[in-house]
Amino acid sequence: MDDSSSSGGLWGGRFAEGPAPELDRLNRSLPYDWRLWRYEMQVNRAWLDELVRIEAVDADTADSLHSGLDTVARRLESGSPALENDEDIHSLIERWLEEEVGPAASLIRLGRSRNDVVATDTRLWAMDAAARIADACGRLQAAIVETASRLVDDVIPAYSHLQQAQPTRAAHWLLSHFWPLDRNRERLDDATARINWLPLGAAAGMGSSLAMDRRRLAVALGFSGACENSLDAVGARDWVSELLFVWTQIAVDVSRLAEDLIVYSSREFSLIRIADAYSTGSSLMPQKRNADGAEIARATGGILLGTLAGYLATLKGLPTGYNKDLQEDKLALFSAEERLASTLSVLAGTVATLEIGSGAGPGDPAALATDVADHLVGTGLSFKEGHDLSGALVLRAEELGLTVADLTPEQRAEVDTRLESIPDELWDADAALERRQAFGGSARERVLEQLEAARELATD
Ligand code: ARG
Repeated sequence: MDDSSSSGGLWGGRFAEGPAPELDRLNRSLPYDWRLWRYEMQVNRAWLDELVRIEAVDADTADSLHSGLDTVARRLESGSPALENDEDIHSLIERWLEEEVGPAASLIRLGRSRNDVVATDTRLWAMDAAARIADACGRLQAAIVETASRLVDDVIPAYSHLQQAQPTRAAHWLLSHFWPLDRNRERLDDATARINWLPLGAAAGMGSSLAMDRRRLAVALGFSGACENSLDAVGARDWVSELLFVWTQIAVDVSRLAEDLIVYSSREFSLIRIADAYSTGSSLMPQKRNADGAEIARATGGILLGTLAGYLATLKGLPTGYNKDLQEDKLALFSAEERLASTLSVLAGTVATLEIGSGAGPGDPAALATDVADHLVGTGLSFKEGHDLSGALVLRAEELGLTVADLTPEQRAEVDTRLESIPDELWDADAALERRQAFGGSARERVLEQLEAARELATD
């Protein structure tokens, strides 16, 4: 074995020479999988205990291995494992353990393989990462609730097709971004339940030659149980793509919040104002306040979708068992988590500090045209007649260059006599909001109820 090479530390015996440097570079996962070291330590210790229980390793040797692992953990904690020259985190830990305890170090991998170990480490990492992202969603939800509670009485136009539709409360708009996050937190729990199965003891894929109690190992490592099939245990990564999917769904959902923040804070809309701390300037145009944070957050949806699609394509058609292609799971997971976590925290800060904008208000009174139609139905017209008449009123206002609210009873009567006596309070946006009393609507009471429900969930 060529000692100058990073590879071959765990498998050099069968080779007359080490791998070519370019293979070594492509093959090495240590530059990223060092992040798994704490999980690898947990797995090593549980495995060692099991080796002692089945009397494959004596208690004294196990003690010295445990204290060797303590030293290795301290080195990992204070050093820069990513810069070492080993193939992967498993090789590095064993090499350092050997420096502490000598050749007994290799007992740690008796009856197991990196194939089952890496799947175990990565599942443990993935469950913690899923919980971190759930917390980050929770912090964004809390920011939404706090800001929404300041904006209950601020009225803004709500949009469909990005055209002014009907007025709503700014709080109601903001809270509409709360609920997808809540469903995504449920999705994270569901995905975690499927990750929570132990591959360890599947060895290279055909099962361990030692009489390990895998169910006992599962309990020791906090899993719900052990994977039923050793080949599936080392080769399956559906739990990776499922988690990537949920993260992508979160990124796509918050990209819609980001888009609203960008558009609503633009001068043309001026419905909200993004705080200085979450705005950036232009090197050329002194007047600019750009929503770069929200724009990068909007891009995260695309980035994660690419990661998910790329990873699924990597899995497609792989033969049964472990294949090195699977090593890519960590790159996908680590980069996706980092990107999503920073996106969620920038959005939480942006939402927590945003203010209502100078252009907020109910918008064009034509946004109350539906209320006019509803009113006419109350006077005995069919909804179609009411809709047509209200539409004709909007058209006339447009022709005269006025808003519908500005038309005099006489001008309305010219369109149709049945429009003459429309009560003035129909143009009162607050009264219009109060008519939206049905559960989940824009009325003040309903929004306050929603806020309370959201507040409870956010702090769950
Ligand atoms: N670095 C590898 C991975 O992340 C560890 C497993 C390698 N197994 C093997 N038989 N070469 O998947």
